[in-house]
Amino acid sequence: MARRKFIAGNWKMNKTAAEGAALVKELKEKLGGCASGCCCSGPDVVVCPPFTTAPAVAAEAKGSCIQVGSQNIHWADNGAFTGELSGAMLKDIPVTYAIIGHSERRQYFGETDDTVNKRTKAALKAGLKPIVCIGELLAEREAGQTNSVCERQARAGLAGLTADDMTTVVVAYEPVWAIGTGKVASNEQAQEVHAFVRSILKDLFGAAVADATRILYGGSMNAANAAGLLAQPDIDGGLIGGASLKAADFAAIVAAAK
Ligand code: 13P
Repeated sequence: MARRKFIAGNWKMNKTAAEGAALVKELKEKLGGCASGCCCSGPDVVVCPPFTTAPAVAAEAKGSCIQVGSQNIHWADNGAFTGELSGAMLKDIPVTYAIIGHSERRQYFGETDDTVNKRTKAALKAGLKPIVCIGELLAEREAGQTNSVCERQARAGLAGLTADDMTTVVVAYEPVWAIGTGKVASNEQAQEVHAFVRSILKDLFGAAVADATRILYGGSMNAANAAGLLAQPDIDGGLIGGASLKAADFAAIVAAAK
């Protein structure tokens, strides 16, 4: 089946509200807007700004094809969880997607497979669409553990979900050694892992779900390498960090996904 391509920008800890709104304004101009059928006929386009920037970004994106996501979500509805935000709070912004289990959260903020699973379920409960991140460290790749790490993270992160839940879930494969390093995975390396992850989805949820679920590549994707990666049969889009902070670069990746 044909999966609609999906291009998401993870702005990480970059852009104030004014800077974020300006970036979306420029992006809208470059994408052409729904009226011209430009981005509507192309991939899903999502930007994930920092929480404080998200309301201004959502206001600027309103009425356009650009959708907004968060970079995290807590599993509880409310309570003593300093620094965290619930699904209801995120829906207030409003955002549609939530990045969950990014490797930077795993590396620096104690995110585990278990918390990834809890956050994923919380997003679904709140009616938000999870972008669940998986990916191996350099040492794990060098030790030949890429598949086993991705399998463990995928099985644990998606544990307890139903085939119905999976209709809104997007999976992002981000080899940690390729994030922010300029060392992009080769088309073949990325395709190999994507195909493997799809086989895990098939085992977990059946062929129809595996066939329909978008699996994004993330890690030094840019305007120059996007077309080659996106041409791979199991690469359905990108989760882009650095290159999503410049409208021209991000728009070029969106164009490569058409
Ligand atoms: P870079 O595109 O900057 O390598 O970041 C990728 C990423 O971590 C997206 O979530």
